Amino acid sequence: MTKEFNIAEMRRLGGLSDESAALLAGMKPMLEKHAEALVTAFYTNLDQHEHLQKLLDAKEGRRQALGTHLRAWLLSLTTGSYDESYQTRRYVIGKRHVEVGLDPRWVVGAMSFCRGQIMPMIEAEYGSAPDKMDRFLALDRIMDLDLNIMLQSYDDQRMNMFLETTGFSKTLFESMIASAGD
Ligand code: HEM
Repeated sequence: MTKEFNIAEMRRLGGLSDESAALLAGMKPMLEKHAEALVTAFYTNLDQHEHLQKLLDAKEGRRQALGTHLRAWLLSLTTGSYDESYQTRRYVIGKRHVEVGLDPRWVVGAMSFCRGQIMPMIEAEYGSAPDKMDRFLALDRIMDLDLNIMLQSYDDQRMNMFLETTGFSKTLFESMIASAGD
């Protein structure tokens, strides 16, 4: 786990307050109700791209297992507690995507797809509620935070692979990057 990524700091920066966390915790029933439809739509959307479809079907039972993982991921957005253990779980998810050779832009695009599914759910469940926008923002922010952690994982894993292959030290590599901006 990277030392630099601090979830409390990132929550403050993105505005995921304790009030937002409480709103998220209250939205579990809504996500449970819509999870099956979202999971189906998610993989139908990925199937438009032949190489993603192949990746999903590369192992027997993978697609089905992934459906279960995605559902669990979706519901865990409403865990209400976004601390270091939450960060670690998200980091591991990011790492798995690096391991299967998926470029990060597909994860970013897929998250964008999920956001698009969330908006009509909120509209249907909380159409006239005064805190409807706060609920939407809370979900938007936690999805951003998830993406941020997953992308940090990508960055770290890829750097580690590069360091292992080249034998460079991390300090040398980071100082090269820093001096490239001079
Ligand atoms: C919002 C974006 C995404 C989320 C939240 C997500 C969620 C997950 C989760 C929770 C896992 C299980 C990780 C673990 O084993 O600990 C996983 C694995 C995986 N995901 Fe995703 N995923 C996303 C995008 C994608 C995309 C775009 C693809 C493209 C095909 C993909 C393909 C895979 C594959 C192949 C695995 C590994 C399955 C295995 O271990 O056999 N994911 N994903």
